[in-house]
Parts: sequence; C-alpha cells; structure tokens
Amino acid sequence: MSPGGKADPDLVLPVKIRRGFAPRLLAWKEVHGRSNLPWQNSRDPYRVWLSEIMLQQTQVLTVIDYYQRFLARFPTVQDLAAAPLDKVLGLWSGLGYYSRARNLHRCAQQVVSQFGSFPGSAEQLQQLPGIGPSTAAAIASFCFDERAAILDGNVRRVLARLLAYDGDLAATPAQKQVQRWAEQLLPPAAQMSLYSQAIMDLGATVCLPRQPRCTDCPMRGLCVAQRQGQTELYPVKSRKLKRSSQRLWLLWAERADGSVWLERRPEQGIWGGLQCLPVFESLDQLSAAVPGRARESVQELPGFLHVLTHRDLHLHPVRVPWDLRSSRGLPSGQWWAHKELAGLGLPAPVRKLLGA
Ligand code: ADE
Repeated sequence: MSPGGKADPDLVLPVKIRRGFAPRLLAWKEVHGRSNLPWQNSRDPYRVWLSEIMLQQTQVLTVIDYYQRFLARFPTVQDLAAAPLDKVLGLWSGLGYYSRARNLHRCAQQVVSQFGSFPGSAEQLQQLPGIGPSTAAAIASFCFDERAAILDGNVRRVLARLLAYDGDLAATPAQKQVQRWAEQLLPPAAQMSLYSQAIMDLGATVCLPRQPRCTDCPMRGLCVAQRQGQTELYPVKSRKLKRSSQRLWLLWAERADGSVWLERRPEQGIWGGLQCLPVFESLDQLSAAVPGRARESVQELPGFLHVLTHRDLHLHPVRVPWDLRSSRGLPSGQWWAHKELAGLGLPAPVRKLLGA
C-alpha cells in the first residue's frame, strides 16, 4: 500500500475495506470461529485477563490446562492477590516467560488494593503491570464492549496482508500506522467482543504465517495481498534474532534425607524469580562453591539440551551428596524437602531433573 516507514499517518483506508472488513469477519465468525475455548463467552475481566496473559507467546493447546488449574486454585483476583508468589510461580512452572507470572501476581495485588476490582477501560488497564495496549484492548473489548483495537502478532499479520503493507512490523512507526488502520476497521461497540475474538480466530486458523488458507478466507477479494497473489510477502520479515547457545552447570547439593539446596534466581535474566539449583558458568566456578571435603564426592551427571525460544541451553548437572552440617560456601538459598518441591516454581528442566 505504501512504502515501509513512509506511510502517510493520516491515511484513510479505502471505503470498500473500511466498510467491508468487520461485517465479513463477523459473518465468518458465526460459522467458522472458535467458540469452545474455556475462556470464551466470559465477560469476567479476571478470567479474560488471565487467559490473555497466558496466551502471550504460548499456544492455545498448552494454555488450556494451566488456565483451568489456575482458576481452580485462584477463582478470583482476590485469591490470586493473597497467594504467596511461590505458589503462583509453582502453578506457572513450565509455561515459560516467568516475568508474566510475577507481573500477574503484582497486577492482582494492585487491582485489589487500588481499585477493588478490574478497572473498566483500556486506558486504565494498561497502567497495570504486565498489561500492554493489546492485552488492555482485548480485556476492554471482551468485557466492556470498548472500541479498542487488539494488535497482537496474529492481527498485525492479518492487517499487513489485507493492506499489502510492507512496513517493518517490528518497528514502532509501522506499529503505530497499523494501529491507526486497525481503529478504522472497528465495528460499533455492541459487536466489539465478537469482533475481537473473530480477528484473533482468523489469524490463528486461516491467515496463517505460512501457507494461509486464502480459499477459505472471508477477506478473499478484499485482501490486497491475496488479490496480488503475494500473501507470502507480508508481513515483511524483520531481521531475525540470532539464536544463541549457553552452557550452564547446575549444583545439585543433596542431603541424606533427600532435601536439596535451591537459590532464588534474580528477577532479570533466565528463569527470573524461580527457585533453582545454583547455576554456574563453568565447572571450576561450581567446584569453588563446594567445600573441600564434599568436593571428593562430586558426581558429574550427563549433560542435556534444553531449548528456549532464542537460546539453546546445554545443562550440566553436578550432584554433590552433602553430609556437612554447615551450608557454608553455597550461594544464598535454603534446603527444601523433596515433597515441598512440587509446590515451588522451578524451571521445567530442573523440575524434571529433580523428579519433582
Ligand atoms: N490469543 C490471544 N488471545 C486469544 C484468545 N482470546 N483466544 C484465542 N487465542 C488468543
């Protein structure tokens, strides 16, 4: 439609697209949209918020179980706010991106202390921890019929193709441009909750990243990229983050009663805020933390690969039977009985290793 980054900020969409998009989408949704996901058909902002946070960067199929377990344990935002952080991290364990869980807990506490219940506008919602503009728009449109435009990765892809927009969607100017267009496409308030779910459904089931199902798409004939036969060109790929790889050594100090020593990870960085076996960047550094007498019984276990989104982690567990009275030398932390581990927020590979 216009060269990347140079788009006219006030550009008004062609009438045909502006008028045609929402009605086509809503008609399609009635027949083909998803309607049996556990967070759908709810106007409870707590449930919608919880699902939207879990669905950031995580597949629907993975989220379903976590979502149901979370709700069973914390049925209201008050229950979540009152829970200890470790309980919350424990239930989150395995979903990844743990800053989401810490923000979730913080957000629940702020909602309760500042508002009593979730505030009723996208503008207020996005002041809360962990709620960005798109999540705020999702909650406000689902629960309060607000005309706020969701703009997650799926929706951006739909709009980039619809308008054959070649701006770099990883860059702020292009995102702002698409936001303005998204706002021009919104239906009247009464249709907002259906519309928001519909545009996400279209992105997730038809306008797929690769091999979009254009023959089944309600925007066929309206979509500029489809008319040009060039859907594969949009959205324009920005420079990919290069994958990195890292080797880490895990100190598995274990007492005769089966208890293990865990430290809490710093908030920033890998596994932020989780309880974890102490992590070292070399075997030498690990050995230096083990007092002379215990060093004799150090046992290097086979290393294994744990794949994160942008990083391959090569993990090397080192088991140290701990028959010393003192825990001197170990990084700050505490002993946890084996039966306590299940309730803690542990990184998934550590949970597996410990059989917790
Ligand atoms: N991804 C983000 N929000 C979603 C929702 N409400 N339903 C399905 N997928 C989503």
